[in-house]
Amino acid sequence: MEQRPTILSGIQPSGRLTIGHYTGALRNWVALQSTHECFFMVADLHAITVPQDPEELRQRTLETAALFLACGVDPNQSTLFVQSHIPEHLQLTWVLACLTGMGECSRMTQFKEKSAQHRHNVNVGLFAYPILMAADILLYQADLVPVGADQKQHLELTRNLAERFNNRYGQVFRIPEPYIPPIGAKIMSLQEPTKKMSKSDPNENAVLFLTDSADAIRRKIRRAITDSGREIRYDEKQRPGISNLMVLYHVATGKSIPEIEQEFAGAGYADLKAALAEALIEFLRPIREEYERLQNAKDYLLSVLAQGAEKARSRAQQTLQLVYDRVGFLPPAVPEAVGLTTSRES
Ligand code: TYM
Repeated sequence: MEQRPTILSGIQPSGRLTIGHYTGALRNWVALQSTHECFFMVADLHAITVPQDPEELRQRTLETAALFLACGVDPNQSTLFVQSHIPEHLQLTWVLACLTGMGECSRMTQFKEKSAQHRHNVNVGLFAYPILMAADILLYQADLVPVGADQKQHLELTRNLAERFNNRYGQVFRIPEPYIPPIGAKIMSLQEPTKKMSKSDPNENAVLFLTDSADAIRRKIRRAITDSGREIRYDEKQRPGISNLMVLYHVATGKSIPEIEQEFAGAGYADLKAALAEALIEFLRPIREEYERLQNAKDYLLSVLAQGAEKARSRAQQTLQLVYDRVGFLPPAVPEAVGLTTSRES
């Protein structure tokens, strides 16, 4: 059978997932899973770069995996796993860290933003975060990485590190391409439409969660900040608020932007908001129902993740072994081959 191109992507379990996670990542994961060999992970190692409550982190890791499934990731087609179950991610991180300049990490926009947000906890993990992300991707020899626009810079670093390693030690890594969707790569805050929608936004009304109730969806869309003007016309620069709502309407209904402009020609913002709220409620209903059903299927979720870890690990081990060999690490001898007995009984 012809080998399908490989995909790797991940989402942090650091809060409830938003409609931005769906449009930037999950929607494309689902669309690509039948034509690609896919590895999708819950990025729990990345999550601890900011403080996490241990019990909550465990809980959210499972919830995030449940949402992957509820959004349509099919465990019979794709490999789902938890990042910390595969120690090779950290082993490769160290090797790549030794090829990364301090300046490369300090230039990362996300590092600059997060270190400003968490001024009293600018830890080395936050700094090295993109190196771990590069390791995630390169371990699986991914060809394609479906992410939102905010991850583009991390993908560029990943490509640079892969090329640097290959130049120094000989061809090992495939050079991955980002897959950034043409529409929905950056869903904006409902309250400040020039800012990315972020699950950690303290203003609840700014963020639409995938598991929001119908009432919450209606309230948030009704209160969404729009621009001055009346016309429903897509223009990200001049009308970021209404354009963001139009993208959400596109996601919920599948209608194209010109179709949406036509549908609302002559109508007002309130009309679009009312139609959008109802469309989102219908669109998110099956996701929420499936998510709720999976809340009572913990053993099933754990078994999906255990199977996923087994598959992911065998791929990760192959790459790491090659890397260790090229770097020049002495492999541990097989005990029998050097005259040692494996028996611990004496
Ligand atoms: P994270 O957990 O912040 O977000 C997960 C994915 O969702 C996308 N996303 C958005 N897309 C559009 N609009 C938004 N408002 C929005 N918010 C989030 C993100 O771009 C991302 O694709 N470092 C990554 C997780 C990660 C990863 C990886 C991704 C770890 N290792 C390897 C790909 C490959 C992160 O923090 O994403």
